[in-house]
Parts: sequence; structure tokens; C-alpha cells
Amino acid sequence: MTQDLRSGPGLRYSIRESLCFETKPEPCGMVIFGASGDLCARKILPALRRLGERSLLPERFFVLGVGRSAFDPASLRKGLPQAAGADYLQGDYTSEDTYRRLKLRLQELSNRHDTRGNTVFYLALPPALFHDATHRLGEAGLLEEDWGGWARVVFEKPFGRDLASALALAVELGDHLKESQVYRIDHYLGKDTVQNVLMLRFANAIFEPIWNRDHIDHVQISALETESIGRRAGYYDSAGVLRDMFQNHMLQLLSLVAMEPPASFAPDWLRDEKVKVFRALRPWADHPPIDNAVLGQYAGYPGEPGVARDSRTPTFAAMRLFVDNWRWQGVPFYLRSGKSLRRRSAEIAVTFKPVPHSVFKPLLPAHLDANTLVFHIQPREGIALTIEAKKPGPKICMGALTMDFDYLQAFGEHPPEAYERLLLDIMLGDQTLFTRHDALEESWRFLEPLLKAELPLRSYAPGYWGPQESEALPAADNRAWRQPDER
Ligand code: BG6
Repeated sequence: MTQDLRSGPGLRYSIRESLCFETKPEPCGMVIFGASGDLCARKILPALRRLGERSLLPERFFVLGVGRSAFDPASLRKGLPQAAGADYLQGDYTSEDTYRRLKLRLQELSNRHDTRGNTVFYLALPPALFHDATHRLGEAGLLEEDWGGWARVVFEKPFGRDLASALALAVELGDHLKESQVYRIDHYLGKDTVQNVLMLRFANAIFEPIWNRDHIDHVQISALETESIGRRAGYYDSAGVLRDMFQNHMLQLLSLVAMEPPASFAPDWLRDEKVKVFRALRPWADHPPIDNAVLGQYAGYPGEPGVARDSRTPTFAAMRLFVDNWRWQGVPFYLRSGKSLRRRSAEIAVTFKPVPHSVFKPLLPAHLDANTLVFHIQPREGIALTIEAKKPGPKICMGALTMDFDYLQAFGEHPPEAYERLLLDIMLGDQTLFTRHDALEESWRFLEPLLKAELPLRSYAPGYWGPQESEALPAADNRAWRQPDER
């Protein structure tokens, strides 16, 4: 059955209901460590509420918050369906007693809600506690899957701060968890337009034949933010933009654009292809950081509360990367991300090669805009294809025409929040959108030399597009950064 969703000037979108698959998870409980914290209030609980509104929570479900401070479980319950339970357990994350009480409470809740022991443990905790919490959950027998149901553990980034610490963490977690139980969140992968990169590439026949070095001139991936670091100095000043945005979100976006088509959307098949992209990234040893990367810091950053006065932490980075394989040889990928910039915008822009010859003299190929395909990830999700087309009027009169799919306009609502998709997938046991250990390792391996490189730190004024020196990266190839569209 086909349903027209919305038609407007120049837009007609229809969807076949038979092609929408959404399953409800089996009964389970969700234990949220750090339940009184910011992440739980801002992301996890609202996502659970929206899943409840869309009838996508399991029929039998409960939330058990765990935290150090006293906390009213009523705020966990708010907005959840009537039948779902919510409870809170106060305790120290490093004390054995907490886990003993947790086990008893879980058994009681699991019986009361008949969730068969299926449990998600969401560690919304500082990474320094990942090991302790997992170790104690393991010691308490809560991660064994043969005591009744499944156990899955969710980790927020950062997963380590370099290759060695990421490997050490993997070994520690490996004592208690199988990879199939580990869900490393990268919330960018939960964004609808990010998943649309795969749909567009692999559910259409027209793009994949031209998705290569013969037809694509270059790719730009940007995640620009207007906000400064706010109150996050404690974390950010020791992380910086390379660990905060590149090791995860930016490289993940790149892998979706560059990967080979997997034979199936099965989680490991897709993740296998992503890892191959990371392995094919040109190593910095063959690609000097000084010529291919620019780091910046916004003026005033060292004066932010909690930031060291002599901090050399970059809040902006731009780089030119190459994927050394047959498909992408010679095609530059320009990436940039930073804080305190002029406009909030995240997008992937694929620019195609110019026409080889102009039929429309006196216009030359250089007069015609190259075709671009842009995935708008933020602030408004959508996809735009720019083509040259005739303008009304004189015989030879052309302009760039943008065919713009805007999610809000097409569906009359904003796409679901990334956490909604990801929480649902965790309960369903679908690891497609979660980072696998080998991808994590490869991304750290790739980034490590850049983290160690002693690059000059360029200053930029808040409200600009980052340091001027970053212009030189595409300019060296006669290209320029795109100005993000106002949408
Ligand atoms: C987070 C980073 O992972 O992503 C933040 O830690 C950043 O520093 C945020 O601001 C950006 O996410 P979004 O969804 O607002 O683009």
C-alpha cells in the first residue's frame, strides 16, 4: 500500500507501508547508572517517553535508576506508560554492597514485571567508572546470560583517550562481557539523515555507479557548533575536539560515505565494511599533519570556568584525508568541526566532477556549478541535490537548481531523536548502529599520531568559521569550504 505523506510545491513523498519495519522489543528492564545525572534527564528519559508514546516500549518493562545521591523515583516514572515500573536505588558505584542490593532489587522487579531477567545496564557514568561498574556487575553474576535472560551493557563515550587506554579498557571489559553484550553509543549514528546515507546509497540504483573517484571530486564533512564548551571543562579540556568529535562522530560519518556496500544490512556485515575504511585511511606517516591538518582554539577559551589558563586544548580541527583504495584513490575528504563558530550546522557534502566539455558556448565548464549532494544532518535534517538547469528566459540561461528534501516539510514532524532509535535497538539486540571494538581500535590507531603531533594552535574569534589557516587546506587543491546553507 502506498500512502502520500505530503505534497507541496515541487515535493511529493510517498511511502509504502509494507516497507516500514519496526518491532517491539521483548520484555526487559533497564538499569540506569547515573540516574540523577544530566544525560539521563536530557536524553535517556525523554527517549523512553517518546518510545512509550509510539507504543514501542516492551509490553512489560521497568526502569531502575542507580545513583549516589538521594533521588525521587517519581521523576523516572513521569511520562512512562502506566504498566511500566520505575524504582531507584541509592548507592556508591564502587561498593560491593550496592551490587548485592541491586541484584536483589532486580530479581524482585524482574519477577514483578515478568521480564524474564532480560536487562539493559546503561552506564551513564564518567568513563573512569566503566571498569569498576562492569567488574562489580560481573562479580555479582549480573552479566551472565545463563541465569535467566540476556544482559547488555551500554557505554557512552569516551572509550579511552588513546589507543593504549582503549585497548586496556577492552581487555578489562572482556573479562566480563562478550562483544555481543557491548553497546558503545555514538549518537550521530542514531540520527535519521545519517542512516539515510546508507538508504540513499544502497536502496537506489542511480548513485552507487557514480560513487567513486571517476565521478566524485571531493567530499566535505562538517559538524560546526555555535556553543562554547559551557560547563563541560572538566571533561573537554582533557579531551579536545579530536577526541570529542573526530575519533567517533566524524570518522563514523566518513565511513558511511566511503564504505563498500555490504551484502546485507546485518550488523556485523555493515560493521566489517566500516572497519575496512578506517584501515584504508592514509596514515599520517605518509601524509604530514602540518600540511593536512589545522588545529584551533577560540579566543577566550582559557578564561572559561574550569579551563587551565595555559590550556593548549584544540576546540577546532580541520583536516584533509584520503582513503587509499581503488574506489577513492585521489579523492580528498575534508573534515572540520569546532565550537564557538558562526552557525550550527552538520552536513556531508559530496561534490561531483565538472562536466568534461561545454555544449553551451560561450559558457565554459568552469562557469557551471558542479553537482552536489548534501546530507543535512543539522539543524534541519534533509537531503539536497543541486543540478544545473535552464532558467526561464533567454535561450542560454542556466542556474543551479536545488532539489531539496526537508524532513520537517515532508513528514510534518521532526525526525525521532537519535537516542530513541538507539535505545530501541539496544532493547532489540541490534548492534548495527553501535561501534564494534575493532572499529574503535582502528579509529584510535589512525588518530594517535595526530594527537601526538605538535601542530601550531591557531586562534579564532568566536562567531567566525574557525581559524583562517583552515582555509588553506582546500585552497591548496583549488577548492573551498562550503558555507553551510541557511535552512
Ligand atoms: C557530543 C560531544 O558527543 O556531541 C559534544 O561530546 C558535542 O561536545 C555533541 O557538542 C554534538 O552533538 P549534536 O547532536 O548536538 O551535534
